[in-house]
Amino acid sequence: MSEIREFIKKLPKAELHLHIEGSLEPELMFKLSERNKVEIPFKTVEEIRAAYEFDNLQSFLDIYYAGAAVLIKEQDFYDLTWEYLERCKEDNVIHTEIFFDPQTHTDRGISFNTAINGIHNALKDGEEKLGITSKLILCFLRHLDEDAAFKTLEEAQPHLDKFVAVGLDSSEVGHPPSKFEKVFAKAREMGLLTVAHAGEEGPPEYIWEALDLLKVSRIDHGVRSLEDEKLVDRLVKEKIPLTVCPLSNIKLCVFADMKDHNYKSLLDKGLVATINSDDPAYFGGYMNQNFIETAEALNLSKEELALSSKNAFNASFISKELKEKYCSLVDQVLK
Ligand code: ADE
Ligand code: ZN
Repeated sequence: MSEIREFIKKLPKAELHLHIEGSLEPELMFKLSERNKVEIPFKTVEEIRAAYEFDNLQSFLDIYYAGAAVLIKEQDFYDLTWEYLERCKEDNVIHTEIFFDPQTHTDRGISFNTAINGIHNALKDGEEKLGITSKLILCFLRHLDEDAAFKTLEEAQPHLDKFVAVGLDSSEVGHPPSKFEKVFAKAREMGLLTVAHAGEEGPPEYIWEALDLLKVSRIDHGVRSLEDEKLVDRLVKEKIPLTVCPLSNIKLCVFADMKDHNYKSLLDKGLVATINSDDPAYFGGYMNQNFIETAEALNLSKEELALSSKNAFNASFISKELKEKYCSLVDQVLK
């Protein structure tokens, strides 16, 4: 194994941008389709994998929402989350902050409780049995209206102890952050933190809106921020983290090739950039694969990889003490 791959394997990592529904591997999709007697339009696992060719975000989302239809019972959400945590263990991801999309499930008649309880119980077991700390983030689907988001936030009320923040995902272009200003204000009143996908396919203006109107602590993706110098200055000055997802960006044609990715430029400009997997079952790899492909294409140094990892711990929603502990583990590996 090359020296850089060896280093990445050993590096303690935090993941801050992972949709739990996007970690549904074809094998589990098949198993759940049989267990729950839900038909899927594929006969084999290979057929499912072969369908994962995307032109843009929407072409992926259509398949991603269809795949989620096999998730019916609390145990299914538990199994999904547990399998993801096992991948974390393999990749030395010691802290993870997971998105889930309640509306993807409630809109097809699955109760909010079923989804959140299955995910929450697996996260609890992950901490006890695998030593992986975690937080959960409730995402609103931005292609739906703000009233639907309000209804979801109401359903979430009895579970406020189980998640730390609200986020915003799904089809970006045409659905600016301003559409969700009121529901995010309500979430903040309830004591929740906020994050939002912005500047993945959408313009830099959406990142400004996420900061000014939704008061986000982090920007998910944010790779288009480099098109706006004033925005970069602000993100650097306010140390707003970007949760970048390199393999996702290639699969969804945000960049034509990993060699064209702007991840190194983000670091060079002093932005708090982090590496994440987004929807690893669909985009060809979990955390280590994202680190490896980015490092090899852009010639990232060990120092830059360690910085990416420390950026993620510092950008996470854990205590100051735990951040310091995790960052010192990174420093030990760098030495
Ligand atoms: N939902 C799952 N993955 C997403 C992505 N990359 N962008 C927006 N919404 C998503
Ligand atoms: Zn995402």
